[in-house]
Amino acid sequence: MAIRLGVFDSGVGGLSVLRAIRAQIPAQPVLYFADQVHVPYGSRPAEEVRRFAEGITRFLLAQGAGLIVVACNTASAAALKHLRQIFPHISFVGMEPAVKPAAETTQTGIVGVLATPATFQGALYASVVERFANGVTLLQDTCPGLVQQIERGDLDTHETRLILENALLPMLERGIDTVVLGCTHYPFVIPLIQEIVGAEVQVIDPAPAVARQTGRLLAERGALASGSEAGELRLFTSGDPKRLAALLPRLLGEVAPVHRVEWSDDEIRLVD
Ligand code: DGL
Repeated sequence: MAIRLGVFDSGVGGLSVLRAIRAQIPAQPVLYFADQVHVPYGSRPAEEVRRFAEGITRFLLAQGAGLIVVACNTASAAALKHLRQIFPHISFVGMEPAVKPAAETTQTGIVGVLATPATFQGALYASVVERFANGVTLLQDTCPGLVQQIERGDLDTHETRLILENALLPMLERGIDTVVLGCTHYPFVIPLIQEIVGAEVQVIDPAPAVARQTGRLLAERGALASGSEAGELRLFTSGDPKRLAALLPRLLGEVAPVHRVEWSDDEIRLVD
């Protein structure tokens, strides 16, 4: 029987992953959680992000999710191990910066990685670099303010361009031919990134691979929803449901009901 996916992020970033899931397995029912009262996660201590991730997972499971996609690099870095420990019977799909495919395909041997401070500081990134960088030089940037711009829907403003130019122009000078998007918010500014770095530079969005992995896991469990008709989609936000709903056509390409939730201590309550 088809199971519901629970997908979460600090905000709208995970919609880049959800978009790939809807493209590949449209009939799968999905619950999406945006913790917009706490966005950005990337500058918070790992311990705090872990608490949020645990509370959100409990909420999504209580709403009927059977498999959780942590559609956030920061939450994956801070909490994936912990979540697998405390929910041993639940399958999780997480994110890690796509250093492996970048290292395999770069010609110049120099790769730019864009991610949040918490992602770069985590053990997950260190392990990805150790396993896959293979002598490739990684140039890192945290793009301060970019997540907030994307949360506002400012995908193509002067300020967004400046943040990206500050990160990417010095990398270009040093010879990058590949950019890894290590934050799920960033695929929404790929057109701007591509304009800045030029068409010859490869930009890696991990969302399609994560959607494929999710489909594989569902198929293994006999829980894949077949067909091309859109399955149930409901969203929850700890922020403003109207603002999130207004961004959906642009970021997701479809509309869906958005419910408001509230945190009280470490628990989440459905408000409407
Ligand atoms: N979208 C997130 C990520 O992939 C989190 C960004 C943030 O809240 O700082 O890292």
